[in-house]
Amino acid sequence: MAIERTLSIIKPDAVAKNVIGKIYSRFETNGLKIVASKMAWLSAEEAGKFYAVHKERPFFKDLVSFMISGPVMIQVLEGENAIAKNRDLMGATDPKKAEPGTIRADFAESIDANAVHGSDAAETAANEIAFFFPAMNVYSGR
Ligand code: PPS
Repeated sequence: MAIERTLSIIKPDAVAKNVIGKIYSRFETNGLKIVASKMAWLSAEEAGKFYAVHKERPFFKDLVSFMISGPVMIQVLEGENAIAKNRDLMGATDPKKAEPGTIRADFAESIDANAVHGSDAAETAANEIAFFFPAMNVYSGR
């Protein structure tokens, strides 16, 4: 199986709930290593650029406002099938539809405050990792 890297963001709602450690524990117990991390309070410009792919969608303004409402914890996860594995651990975008035991089912309140972001494909993951971390600041867990 392929060793991949993916970008994960613990969003302002989950940071405010003080569950960073609980979410990190889910990554680690499921074979994902944290190979880069930083806390940041994004500017509107940064959040807008990060979510530029969604800029024509009706929720774009709300998404950016939410993502700049407090600090976020940003990390690179590494492991076998890391992209899909992280998406499985996160659960569905809408926490009401997320499988029990997923991060969003357990820690998120609503579709707009849904606790975590995870890259959805290999190309997106590479771009999102490069957006937040210079290559020299990502340390292989192997
Ligand atoms: S995804 O993850 O791309 O498959 O999901 P998608 O449904 O396309 O949503 C893209 C991101 O937009 C967020 N989102 C919303 N924010 C605010 N309000 C509403 N209604 C809403 N619907 C979707 C969703 O959480 C996704 O954010 P990220 O950070 O990528 O998970």
